[in-house]
Amino acid sequence: MRRLSLLLTLALCPALLAGCSADPEPEPDREPAAPTRPAEAAEPIPEPDGQVVVGEVQALLDNACSGCHSGPRASAALALDARHAYAGLVDRKSHQLPSMLLVAPGEPKLSYLLHKLEGSHIQVGGHGKRMPIGGTWGPGGDVSPDDLAAVRAWIKNGAPAGLR
Ligand code: HEC
Repeated sequence: MRRLSLLLTLALCPALLAGCSADPEPEPDREPAAPTRPAEAAEPIPEPDGQVVVGEVQALLDNACSGCHSGPRASAALALDARHAYAGLVDRKSHQLPSMLLVAPGEPKLSYLLHKLEGSHIQVGGHGKRMPIGGTWGPGGDVSPDDLAAVRAWIKNGAPAGLR
């Protein structure tokens, strides 16, 4: 009996030893963790082509919008200062809702700019805030009913350009 257990121990030992001493699998070299968000691609702001938005509409853009929407880091890559607004808006796809133009000449309902001003942008499938962020709407507000009427009429009339 003693002999048997000794034999068993001897027979099992190498297996046990091997089991015990086997190194754990080396960790495979890990890929560096993928960044959770790719670096924001710099979106080109369309070059001005000499056509400009005129009158009340540009006055609104100057007063209520170009603080954020101008310069190389313009919000939403949309520059609304007098030099850039026309090229940035008219016949340009919205970044937020690429199926819609920002200004579709003759088509206020198909113009995302107007939806962003009226607050109907979510209903049409867009996102983000009503513009101007932090603004007020209504008589005496940053965007008055007259301002909205001026933008709507401009678009309805085919978004005519002024020249500089
Ligand atoms: C305080 C800064 C700020 C002001 C003021 C502001 N915007 Fe914006 N705008 C943003 C930011 C940020 C975004 C993107 C996030 C969002 O839509 O909420 C944006 C997005 C937009 C978009 C969507 C662009 C696209 O391609 O889809 C439009 C259109 C727009 N703004 C128009 C305006 C107009 C018109 C005004 C003035 C009446 C205005 N904004 C005032 C910061 C501002």
